[in-house]
Formats: sequence, structure tokens, C-alpha cells
Amino acid sequence: MNKNRREFLKFLGVSSVGLSQLSSLSLLGSCSHQKKALSSRRLPSFKDDLILREGLHYYPLISWGDSINQHEAFGFNNDYITYKPLSPDELIMWVNHEYTNPLFVSGRERSKENIDKERRSVGGSIIKVKKENQKWRFQAGDPHNRGVRGDTPIKFAYDKEIMGAKIVEGTCSNCAGGFTPWGTFLSCEENPHKNYGEKNRHTGDFRPSSQWSQWEKFYPHPIEHYSWVVEIEPETGAAQKHINLGRFGHESATCTVSNNQVVVYSGDDKEDEHLYKFVSQNDKDFKQGTLYVANLEQGKWLPLDLEKSPELKKHFKNQIEVLTYCREASKIVGATPLNRPEDIEVHPHNGDVYVTLTRSDKRHDPFGSILKVSEKNADHTSLNFTHETFVMGGEASQFACPDNLAFDQNGHLWMATDMSDKDIGQSPYKSFGNNGLFVIPTSGAAAGEVIQVASCPVDAEFTGLCFSPDQKSLFVSVQHPGEGTRNIHQPTSTWPTGSTPKPTVVVIEGEFLESLTQKRV
Ligand code: FEO
Ligand code: CA
Ligand code: CA
Repeated sequence: MNKNRREFLKFLGVSSVGLSQLSSLSLLGSCSHQKKALSSRRLPSFKDDLILREGLHYYPLISWGDSINQHEAFGFNNDYITYKPLSPDELIMWVNHEYTNPLFVSGRERSKENIDKERRSVGGSIIKVKKENQKWRFQAGDPHNRGVRGDTPIKFAYDKEIMGAKIVEGTCSNCAGGFTPWGTFLSCEENPHKNYGEKNRHTGDFRPSSQWSQWEKFYPHPIEHYSWVVEIEPETGAAQKHINLGRFGHESATCTVSNNQVVVYSGDDKEDEHLYKFVSQNDKDFKQGTLYVANLEQGKWLPLDLEKSPELKKHFKNQIEVLTYCREASKIVGATPLNRPEDIEVHPHNGDVYVTLTRSDKRHDPFGSILKVSEKNADHTSLNFTHETFVMGGEASQFACPDNLAFDQNGHLWMATDMSDKDIGQSPYKSFGNNGLFVIPTSGAAAGEVIQVASCPVDAEFTGLCFSPDQKSLFVSVQHPGEGTRNIHQPTSTWPTGSTPKPTVVVIEGEFLESLTQKRV
């Protein structure tokens, strides 16, 4: 057996015992055999179920509406997942709740009561999770369990003020996030204008939120109170919003350390918006540092700093204003517009930075791609980089609209897709089935091959991919099943209980996962 074949079989998780069986699949070899191999790596389905490839199983961990303490329930639309381990089998877990669907959560009438219910269903939840009898279990009633919600008072970090406020009301639109080197959670506010509307700072024109939100009706908060990165203490739930990391449609806040400095990568998920990184002066806090935005043509990180980019002085009174209106500042310094940058992960072995560019209707890119950014000398504080497309979505790779990412310790990239509920099953997305979970090796014979691992229930997407400390379990949020429902009595999905659809965090385990994630000797 040649080395490539051996490595590829090893990658697919097949032991020598299973080789004869695999040979019959003819995974490698002639062109026609390659074709068969590709089809065996696919799992498209329109079924209203969580479908897994052979060698995997799943069980639910916690669902929307489950009580986490005497007063609070697990919120809606679970998204990003991270945790602080207390031991290998005991975790303080953070789960984002990105947005609500009034049809399920409250009611479409825009009453204060309904809006208050929605505000208590977003933000994030801290939950204690423990492994008991070989299974991860949510610990209801544990004193760590608490919500940080749309109505929780939250201060700006380091006693700074925005629009005259040091403390603001709540967090919302919490999409992805990060985990700091000092052991706290980061949660990113992506699209808060969908809840509160937004005012143009130059003309004063107000654009209301969607007709199914309208929180501004009872809570006319300045939009500048939102769209920040929120840091949360795992033990106490104390939260603060970080002005230094900038204000834009933060998808994620992925932390890494170079030269004893923490670097935070973040994408702004909107057509033609940008890729950012914050370089802190140390690896202990975000008190001092510089926010940069990427120019891909020049391979340069451009400082969003009044002193380092003096052209900003014509447009902004002070540095806080630059950081509050990053989208405007980025265009002035010459940042490269991108096709909706979503999640970002750093390769655990070589430091390359992988960024999903989910799609762009404007630029006729319906399938999206994954961008690979290599910092000069693998130094994350460097101001120079090169970049290339790692993999494109489309018919050949059999995925569309890449969104959430995670690396396992062996450097395999796990990726989930996010086609909208209106697009699933329609041209040009017909052949992709429902949204899926995929794994893509980044080195060896199978580098760049896209292998489907799971398929979502109807209208849902997988979010918040997060490995347990031993990497034998993958925590995944199943977000917005049945999102396309118009009549609550006829939901488009009844996953997972057979009635009203429920966003749910699940645990995926099995031989296939372990064959990829367990350390190789
Ligand atoms: Fe919350 Fe851009 O996905
Ligand atoms: Ca996303
Ligand atoms: Ca998404």
C-alpha cells in the first residue's frame, strides 16, 4: 500500500481490520473510483433529522426552555459554545443565544410583554456540564448556572463611556465568540440593529428594526451600545463590553498568543465588510493595544488608530469614535471588502488563520469559500501576511455557504454550512441537501478533501462546534430548526421531540470522530 493511500485510509479512520471492506468502496485509484469515493464522502439529505455518517451517534445535552436555575431557562437559538474546564470531566460551559423567533418564543404581537420575553431568551447561558457514566450531562440547579441576557446591565470595560453611558442594558445578537488566555468567555454581538434599529450618525435618519422585532418601541437604546465583544467571567457571570476590540458586526473573537501578546481575530459578517485583528500589548487583558483591518491586495494590516493613520483625523474627533464606527474607518484607510467574513480559527500546528467567506450575492459568489491567511513568520503580531483560497464551495466540493469552524488537535478543519432556509432545496443549492457538518484535512494526501459528517434537521444549521477536553466528544448547537415555519400548528420541523422544534445542544461521539481527533503516536 503506498504512503498516500495508507494516510488517506488512516484519515478516514479505518483500521487494518476494515481494509477489505474499504477496498470494495475503491476509495482511491482510477478516475471512476475517485468519483465513487467522492459520493461516499457525501451525506446530503432533506430529512427532518440529525443524520450522521457511520461510526457516529449523538445525544441531546440541553434544549431551549430547559430550566437552568429557579428563575431562568436555557435561551433560544443556541450558537457559539466554549467552556472553562474545572477538570477533564467537569466544565463551566458558555452557550450564546443569538436571536429569537417570536412565533415560538413569545407571539407576533409587538407588546412589551412579548418583547421582554424575547430579551430574556437571548444573550448567553452559563451551564455546568459533567461527564457521568460515560455521557456528558447538564447539571440543572448547579450554582454556576445563570443567564446573561438582553436585559442584564453590562458595563463598558475600563469605565469608558459610549453615548454618555458607562453601563448599558443587555447583550443581544450573540453569534460566535472566543476564549481568552486568562480563562474568560468572549461573546460577539453581530446584528443588534435587527433588534433595536439604527441611526445614521451623519444624517440622523433612523432605520427601524424588522417588523418582528421592534424592541426600540419600548427600549429606544442607541445602537452604539451594541455590536461589541462582551467578556464574561465564568464563575460570576460578570460581563463587560470591550471598546478596544472595535464595534462592527462581530462574528467571532478568536484569541491566540504570539510574543506574549494576545491577538484577537474577528470578521464583520456583512457584504463588502472586513477582516480585523486586535493586537494587545500583553497577554493578560485588552487594556492597551491596536485594532487593525486587513488589506489583502497589499498583504498588510492597517491600523485603525488616529495617530498611526492620520487620515482618520479628518473624519473622527477621537479614538473612541474611530472604534465605535469601524466600518467607516476601515473604508477610509483602504481595507479590502470581503464576501461576508464569518468564523475564524487558527491552525493548531502552523498558526495559519482560516476565515470563512460565506457568500456574496453582490459579487455573484453563491457558494462561498474558506480563506487561508499566513502571518509573516507565523507571528500573529506581524503587520504583513500572505493569503490564498483554501477551498471553494460549489458542486465540486459539495458544500455551500461555509460558516462555523473548529480545528481538532490533529489539524483537521471541521466546518458547518449556513444556507438560508429560503435557499435550501432551491437552485443553485438543490444538490446540497440541508445544511451540513464537514471535516477537511489540512495536510497529507487528503488535504482539501471535503467529507460530510452530518446533515441538519429542516431549516437548521450546526453552530458552535466545540471539542471536549479529550476530543472524544464534539458539542454542537443545532440552531433554528423549523425557522421557515409560518403556522405554528404546521412547523416545517418537529426535531428533536416530534412536536414544536427546539434549538438544542447535542453531543456527537463515536469511532469515526475518535479516529480523527485522537493523538497519533
Ligand atoms: Fe451569526 Fe454571521 O452568523
Ligand atoms: Ca455565523
Ligand atoms: Ca449563520
